[in-house]
Formats: sequence, structure tokens, C-alpha cells
Amino acid sequence: MKPIQVGLLGIGTVGSGVFNVLSRNQEEIRRRAGRGIEIACVADLDTARARAIVGENARVVGDAREVIANPEIDIVVELIGGYGIAKQLVLEAIAAGKHVVTANKALLAVHGTEIFKAAAEKGVVVAYEAAVAGGIPIIKALREGLAANQIQWVAGIINGTTNFILSEMRDKGLPFAEVLKEAQALGYAEADPTFDVEGVDAAHKATIMSAIAFGIPKQFDKAYIEGISKLDSVDIGYAEQLGYRIKLLGIARRRENGVELRVHPTLIPEKRLIANVEGAMNAVLVQGDAVGATLYYGKGAGAEPTASAVIADLVDVTRLHTSDPEHRVPHLAFQPDQVHDVPVLPIEEVVTSYYLRMRVEDKPGVLADITRILADSSISIEALIQKEAAEGEAHTDIIMLTHQTAEKNANAAIARIEALPVVQGKVVKLRMETL
Ligand code: HSE
Repeated sequence: MKPIQVGLLGIGTVGSGVFNVLSRNQEEIRRRAGRGIEIACVADLDTARARAIVGENARVVGDAREVIANPEIDIVVELIGGYGIAKQLVLEAIAAGKHVVTANKALLAVHGTEIFKAAAEKGVVVAYEAAVAGGIPIIKALREGLAANQIQWVAGIINGTTNFILSEMRDKGLPFAEVLKEAQALGYAEADPTFDVEGVDAAHKATIMSAIAFGIPKQFDKAYIEGISKLDSVDIGYAEQLGYRIKLLGIARRRENGVELRVHPTLIPEKRLIANVEGAMNAVLVQGDAVGATLYYGKGAGAEPTASAVIADLVDVTRLHTSDPEHRVPHLAFQPDQVHDVPVLPIEEVVTSYYLRMRVEDKPGVLADITRILADSSISIEALIQKEAAEGEAHTDIIMLTHQTAEKNANAAIARIEALPVVQGKVVKLRMETL
């Protein structure tokens, strides 16, 4: 049978990884897919660079629309990224009856509903394994491997840049800004690192996972997002003394009245496997009612790990090419008419435990005043350390871990603590999950 014909839109790091892995493993991939998979055409604004990567093995064009309009192309792989031209091209490829494979989490988290609707109407597949956690097959696991379960929650380290920065801050005791510079010099962080360090990239991925875990529409705009740029390495040190690591987690949790969808720095007990995921690695923990906890670990970025996911999608689409659209795995794991509009709860309704650090006057009765406020709010203390005041200092740090309470309750108690004359400045609040 003639190999399936693929058109690549964008041949940067991931695109060249796709080209190299497909060339290297073509025989095994053909044996799995049932027919060959061939990159027939590549579109990139930098045609000279594209030609240097693909040589004489594929046509190179400067205009992505030439690929979409080519009747020989069966699958379009979008590796441009972002919501702008990428969105237009994906919709045009769908309208032209092409299957689409994309690594574009931003696009799917924000415009997924529109894109999947267009794909369903046209009877084509939009596959997106590479959009979440790079080479880790987490979409496959959530949509297919765990299909028997009620997924209760998903919690993941789904941004390698921030995990690298947090690992370095902990290992070297350095402040965020200094480690960010190092990460940029090493190529782990972008020149403009905002999307990564402010948690937006992780929120895109958490949004996609929440949709397929719970059968809900993508609601990126409702996600609570807090990055790591304001995290003080002092808190990483105190957390460690209490037996915890701080990780930027993307969390999606099913609750009776809705779902929690949030990204923030999170204390995790250091004995959990996921707390020990270091450097730029990713990991996702999924709790299902039947299977219990399952953990997926691997590289969340990079040319070949991401290519691994893109090509797995190409194999899937190749196998399904001639199948009837109704019998394919649904885009959002649940049949389209079974996707329910469950609300994402505001952060004030989230229930979790807290790490609180406050700077207080070192004199009798201070701790009693603070614990009284917590008791009045029914917030139970799980652990507490009070540092000895440094020589000549009138103030010292108190660090507390609380049991679970609603965020609004914690915030009200914190406001009362901050109003005490013996408390200096703001209380640092970090969320904590036992997972
Ligand atoms: N920028 C992402 C990260 C990789 O740092 O993990 C691509 O999603």
C-alpha cells in the first residue's frame, strides 16, 4: 500500500525530531501502522533551514497553505505553536478534509471546543498526544488505558522549565532570579520565560487533562494560575525541614459541585515518588477509583521525546484512516454528546492544606494569639516550627502546616493574623497536597 502522506507545518526543533525519528525507525513504524508514513511536504518560512534538514526526501515550501491544498496529503502536522496563524491553518486543514496532528497545547486549551467541533463535522481526527507532557503518553492513558475508571484527580509536574528552576533553587539555595538566568543560559528557559514561569503553559496542559479526565469542555479561562516567580527559596528550605518538596503542580480534581482546576507551587511529602522528579523531567499522577494511583514519568520536551508522541499520533491516524468516524476514540475521551458542562470552582472554594510563614515579634503570647485565630476558624494545625530569633533581632519566623480547609476560610484567618500588631508584613501562603 502507498505510504500515508504527511505534510509538516513548521520544522523547528520538534519538526526535525519528527523527521529524524521517522527516517530512522521507518521499518518498525511501518510494521506497526500497517503501511509506511512518509513526510511528503514541509512548509517553513525558513526554507533554507527546512531544506538542510529534509534534503531531497521531501518537498519544501514557504507557504503552509500549499501543503493544506495538496490533495496528496492525508495528515497535516501543525508544529507552529500559538493561537494565531496556527489556529487558522488547523481549521483550514480540517475544512480541506485532512487529519491533523498537533503539539499545540495553547491552541487546544483555548480553542479546543471549536476545533474539535469542526473536526467532528468533517469526520477527521485531531490528535494531540504531544500537547501534554511531551513524550509521556498521558493522553493515551487518560482516554484509553483508564477508560474503566472514574478519574478522581490528576496532578502533574507538566512544565520542565519550572521544575528545573525549582530543583536548582532547592539544591543550591539560590533565589529564583539567579536560577532563571542559569536556566536561560543552558537553554532550559526561553528568553521570554513568562508562559513557563507564570504557570500558563502548565495551565494549558492541566486544562486539556481536566477535559479528558472528567468529560467536560475545556475551560482554560476558569483555571487558577499562580507561577513560581514570587517563590522565596527560604520557603523551599523550610518546607524541606518539614519533610516536603515544593513543585509547580497542575491539578484537576473532581468535587461534588464541580471541578478544581489550578496551577500553583505546591508542597508535596518528600516520600512521594512525584516529589522526587527533578530537573526538567515531567510526571503525572492519576487517581482512578478502580486502579488507584498511577504515575507516568518522562521527558516533557525536546526534539525526539516530543517527536515520539507526534509519531504515535501519526501511527494512530494511519491505522484509523479508513475507519468510520463514529468508531474512533472520541477527541475528549467521552462521546461528544456525553461531554457535560461541569463548573470549574473558583479558587476560594478549593479545599486544601496550607503552609503558612509569618514574621512575628518574639514575645510571650504571640503564638497563642495566632493559634486562637486558627482555632476560631476551625483550622487545625498539623505541624509547626518556630525559629530562634537571630542574635539582636526582635522578630522571628513561625512556620505552620494546616489540615485541610476551604481557601476562603484560610484567607479570612490570614487577614486576621496579618492585622495583629505583633505580625510583621504579609503571611506567606502556599498550598499543600498529600497526593
Ligand atoms: N516549555 C515547556 C516546558 C515544554 O518547559 O516544559 C513545552 O511544553
